[in-house]
Amino acid sequence: MRAFVTGATGLLGNNLVKELRGRGLDVTALVRRRDARRLVGPGVELVVADLRDVGQFETRMSGADVLVHAAACYGEFYRGAAPPLLAETNVAGTTGLLEAAERQGVRTVVYISSAAVLRAAAGGTADETSPYDEETHERYFASKVAAEKAVLRFSEEHPGMRIVLILPAAMLGPGDVGPTPTGAFVLKLLRGELAFVLPGWQRIVDARDVAFAAAEAIDRGRSGERYVIGGRRYPVAEIYRSVTEVSGRPTPTKPISAAKLLFLSRILSLASRLTRRPPPVTPAMVQRLQEGFSFCSDKAVRELGVRFRPLEATMNDTVKWFQAEQTAGEVGS
Ligand SMILES: NC(=O)c1ccc[n+]([C@@H]2O[C@H](COP(=O)([O-])OP(=O)(O)OC[C@H]3O[C@@H](n4cnc5c(N)ncnc54)[C@H](OP(=O)(O)O)[C@@H]3O)[C@@H](O)[C@H]2O)c1
Repeated sequence: MRAFVTGATGLLGNNLVKELRGRGLDVTALVRRRDARRLVGPGVELVVADLRDVGQFETRMSGADVLVHAAACYGEFYRGAAPPLLAETNVAGTTGLLEAAERQGVRTVVYISSAAVLRAAAGGTADETSPYDEETHERYFASKVAAEKAVLRFSEEHPGMRIVLILPAAMLGPGDVGPTPTGAFVLKLLRGELAFVLPGWQRIVDARDVAFAAAEAIDRGRSGERYVIGGRRYPVAEIYRSVTEVSGRPTPTKPISAAKLLFLSRILSLASRLTRRPPPVTPAMVQRLQEGFSFCSDKAVRELGVRFRPLEATMNDTVKWFQAEQTAGEVGS
């Protein structure tokens, strides 16, 4: 069986390629980075192209049994991205890719969405039946809502294709070369760049558990269905403690109130518009930390056999990976 994987150099993508190779699949990976081979590993066919120009690589999907679409422009400040890039990559890029896959005879698609498209009442639980977060002010989350709706529409219009959607919570894990916003947060803790314990909770899942879910979805996922891969919810203070335990580095213990942090995040966000650098914390982040709802992954546990490893295991491997990369000078700020 051959899989065509997009986003193969990303946190999820490189763990996914390892998972698929471990299961004996042949993998063709869409990549852009010059150091893609180092991240993706040996034995993988590389196609160097941009998702937004599907004509460049469409025919390379021919012969693939499954497309796993994990590429996305992650965050408003994604590697210097200008806002239109979010819609071009996450929405138009996704529909263009699905249309090309259909033309090339790919019959199964696993699309990586995000659990952040879902809303739940404070302290409640979000699952596949929860409403979309239509109110979000974060352009990245809005683009993921629009992309998921487009994928579901495409799925309805193309009953001959089996399209399964995976909705991960915030991921951590080894191989976070970006780093992603959650990985960047851990790096800040390791570098002693945070002064306070942020108030609230964070929902964390190991990227390798999401990779397992996506691989299982190829055969076991039901067409047109969404699967929340939500990991567990942790108080932010517990995440700090976990970083200290595995790294030996002290992390802040002094809390900051949600009201103060919100005020600070507004100022930092305004400043970031001028500097074009990501603010360490945004008002939407503060709001999400406060909401404190959990994700329910029962459907994925039942139908895909997903299991979640404990935070200590995830944090240990994430921190060790960051430390090794920092020593090698590979992970930036
Ligand atoms: N990380 C999380 O917490 C999280 C949570 C929920 C959902 N998700 C979703 O999970 C998926 C994987 O995210 P991730 O965490 O692995 O993010 P990531 O580490 O930032 O990786 C994103 C990947 O997409 C690729 N990409 C971006 N724009 C592209 C383009 N125009 N053409 C080709 N490739 C492009 C990147 O390639 P380059 O390396 O060349 O930039 C990279 O391989 C995404 O759909 C994301 O929205 C992530």
